Amino acid sequence: MEERMLRDIEVSEVGMGCMAFSHGYGKIPPERYSIEAIREAYDHGCTFFDTAEIYGPNLSPLHRGHNETILGKALADVRDEVVIGTKMMPRGGMGRNAYRELRQHLDGSLERLRTDYIDVYYIHRTSGEAIEDVAFAMGRLMDEGLIRGWGLSQVDVDVIDRAQQVTPLAAIQNIYSMVERDCEHAVIPYCLEHDIGFVPFSPIASGLLSGKITPETKFERHDDVRNWVPQLSKRNIEGNQPIIDVITEFAELKGCMPAQISLAWMLHKWSNVVPIPGSKNKERIIENLGASKVELTGAEFAALEAALDECTVHGHRGLGGF
Ligand SMILES: NC(=O)c1ccc[n+]([C@@H]2O[C@H](COP(=O)([O-])OP(=O)(O)OC[C@H]3O[C@@H](n4cnc5c(N)ncnc54)[C@H](OP(=O)(O)O)[C@@H]3O)[C@@H](O)[C@H]2O)c1
Repeated sequence: MEERMLRDIEVSEVGMGCMAFSHGYGKIPPERYSIEAIREAYDHGCTFFDTAEIYGPNLSPLHRGHNETILGKALADVRDEVVIGTKMMPRGGMGRNAYRELRQHLDGSLERLRTDYIDVYYIHRTSGEAIEDVAFAMGRLMDEGLIRGWGLSQVDVDVIDRAQQVTPLAAIQNIYSMVERDCEHAVIPYCLEHDIGFVPFSPIASGLLSGKITPETKFERHDDVRNWVPQLSKRNIEGNQPIIDVITEFAELKGCMPAQISLAWMLHKWSNVVPIPGSKNKERIIENLGASKVELTGAEFAALEAALDECTVHGHRGLGGF
């Protein structure tokens, strides 16, 4: 697979979101299946894996680290061939003791991930107040060799700029897809200009852009974010059908799958974007990685973009979304 850079960290141009092996999309697979799925993704050229300390069933503190533990087991013997991004969730606003708090969280992640360094260490959510102190502490962790780079998630350009001036960022991980385009206005252009990788989460809009979800689709009752993702209410699935029709038409034209079109679109549009689609299904994980082989010509991209611009998006998560 082609490579892209998150500042000076090289990654496959499509990564893998591992959250669903532990949280967010209903019943989780047996651990052995998840480990095999991660290894198969690696065998298919994926070198960028995304997790977080909070990813565990129901996000319960009792299950903290569930997802990191699976990833650690799956990647232990290829550790130096892959890039691991994980995220720490601060207890409150981090200020002067940011280093101490980061270190506590980082030590737990290192142990669970069976490694002595993290490639991209993110703050999962920040209030933004003391971001300079956090950025300084991250710089210290980099100097100590405990992390290779750092990142922020769900942040606006003001917070990014303040952080960037203290310790340059490797990556920003915000929500971004054909139906969540806020970041196109300022965040992605800022990242491009400053050599920061942009890592879209929920790039398939939690499954909507695969074209497989219909107004009749029943989501699971427990621990399933699709029950509240705004584009996935029955009414909004109907309202968003024109977008699915556009993607499906282009997928037929290119002989590929709709989800692959949604990823190929963002790869074509931005040279610093590295999506991390999530799936707990081996076949769909490989399908998503295959988006890297779907090349849109300039004319195809322009036609796709124009067709999308004609559509109204129903439902919006934005930067406030989890
Ligand atoms: N920073 C943050 O705050 C944050 C928030 C959310 C997520 N994330 C990260 O981003 C990653 C991806 O986000 P996400 O999982 O929320 O959203 P996503 O990748 O947009 O969508 C995942 C959903 O789409 C379905 N899907 C994926 N590929 C498919 C395909 N080819 N065909 C049909 N259905 C497909 C999956 O179902 P199946 O499992 O059945 O295939 C799953 O229900 C997560 O794993 C996590 O690492 C970060």
